[in-house]
Amino acid sequence: MRDIANVFFLSAVLCVTAGMVLGLWMGPTGNFQFAPVHAHLNLLGWVTMALFAIYYRLTPRAAQGRLPRVHAALAIPGVLLMSGGLAVEIAGRPEGFPVIVLGAFLSFGSMLIFLFTVLRYGFGVAQASGHGARLGAAIGAV
Ligand code: HEM
Repeated sequence: MRDIANVFFLSAVLCVTAGMVLGLWMGPTGNFQFAPVHAHLNLLGWVTMALFAIYYRLTPRAAQGRLPRVHAALAIPGVLLMSGGLAVEIAGRPEGFPVIVLGAFLSFGSMLIFLFTVLRYGFGVAQASGHGARLGAAIGAV
């Protein structure tokens, strides 16, 4: 799939579907120990990925080239490893911890790429003469 906004949005919808299934299981069973997994699937997965998707759709210049693909290659495994590692650790298996750490660093790395992207391209197509464009020009000149 070439369209990076679609990649992020599909990932977001898959995450919230899984998060809701977990929530629907937690409610009736009264087993809330996996609530942090549910929260990360929904907030790091659904909310954050959907915001990335909307950003790339509204800022087409930022969606071009290799960087948004590197962004996705860090962000998507990041949320999966964070959530999966949390589930494993909560289930009482300490080997989940390094998985959480790896997922956390992938997620943070993806956010640093996003920070760079926003500084470089601003937000939206109407950014050309704005503050973001000046920052972008400064970054681009480095
Ligand atoms: C079908 C939809 C959903 C169901 C059935 C559901 C169910 C639940 C349940 C049963 C809990 C545990 C409550 C407790 O600890 O007393 C919970 C916690 C939580 N949910 Fe959901 N939820 C749903 C959707 C969402 C969505 C869409 C989000 C965010 C975008 C979300 C964010 C959270 C957060 C942040 C917590 C607290 C986690 C924690 O305490 O560690 N949930 N949810």
